[in-house]
Amino acid sequence: MLPAWNSRIRAYPPGKPVEEVERELGHSAVKLASNENPLGPSPKAVEAVQKSLEGISYYPDGQGYYLRQKLAEIHGLEMNQIILGAGSTDLIELAAKTLLEDGDGGITAESAFYIYRLAIEEMGGTLTQVPLREQTFDLPAIAHAVTPRTRIIYLANPNNPTGTMFTADEMDRFLAALSPRVLVVLDEAYCDYVGRSDYSHSVDYARRGLNVLVLRTFSKVYGLAGLRIGYGMGHAELIEALNRIRSPFNANSVAQTAALAALDDREHVAKSVESNAREMKFLTQELTLLGIHYTPSVGNFLLIDTGRDCEADFMRLLHEGVIVRPMKLYGFPTGLRVTVGARGQNEAFLEALRRIAAAPARVGK
Ligand SMILES: Cc1ncc(COP(=O)(O)O)c(C=O)c1O
Repeated sequence: MLPAWNSRIRAYPPGKPVEEVERELGHSAVKLASNENPLGPSPKAVEAVQKSLEGISYYPDGQGYYLRQKLAEIHGLEMNQIILGAGSTDLIELAAKTLLEDGDGGITAESAFYIYRLAIEEMGGTLTQVPLREQTFDLPAIAHAVTPRTRIIYLANPNNPTGTMFTADEMDRFLAALSPRVLVVLDEAYCDYVGRSDYSHSVDYARRGLNVLVLRTFSKVYGLAGLRIGYGMGHAELIEALNRIRSPFNANSVAQTAALAALDDREHVAKSVESNAREMKFLTQELTLLGIHYTPSVGNFLLIDTGRDCEADFMRLLHEGVIVRPMKLYGFPTGLRVTVGARGQNEAFLEALRRIAAAPARVGK
């Protein structure tokens, strides 16, 4: 017998893999659906992966010693303030698993990364979703929604799918007024792309021992999404509590090695960020020329509004060989989220968009 909440949950719908499009439609596609790095990983990470393959008959270092040591050094934290995950998704779920008992409260925004609500619901928690304000997390409204049963709050900065951010000052004010018994999970998956000086100083919260878990990932700017590796930073007692129930070998050996090498290649990160900035400018200029509305984004993706049913547009773009993400589930029935790709990919997307705008009758199955 399944618990009642299980059948109420809707599984996370991921970006469509290229192989699936090939299988179903018989043609290849450009994938701009999951905010991956179009430049791929650092060549140094690839080389490290190749070397590490010799050791895959052994279990990984369950403590992730060297990677945590390096991350501690980079962020000016102690090693016991860092935890590794199989992607940050793993840690989003682990936080809810650690904190929530049946009926406890979890808060996030209405239009935020779907895994937050899933993590709360999976633990039988009471989910509160606060509407965005001007497409951004509404921190005062979230503070207002806190009840004595609230245990966890998930914030994304920048937010996915809107690409908007809140400032470090806004976050400071939010934390100052919040009960320290509530854990704030601050997900900064896209932090490397943000060029603004008023953006987050989240690692300070971990240094100061505030009840905040800062999440980062190697899936975005580091181009290692397929290896599943991310990390969390927080006060030592929090990390210890998470570690008690963490799956013992959640960060695999190949991923740990790749992440270590990727951290050393600052040039690749800089190149990736520059490419994103250049291509974001190109895409937004072209969308403006096409008269398509978009939400200005500080990340590596854009939420666009075609004014038409997003599921139908998603299918039509798929037939044109471009995979994007329909945003109905996130509260945008006419919204598509598109990753900022390399120039050729962005051109392919724009060309496909022009074609479907010119032939609105063709709706694919
Ligand atoms: C806001 C946000 N957090 C976390 C993730 C997941 O990252 P990971 O691959 O590290 O699990 C994503 C992926 O799209 C995301 O958009």
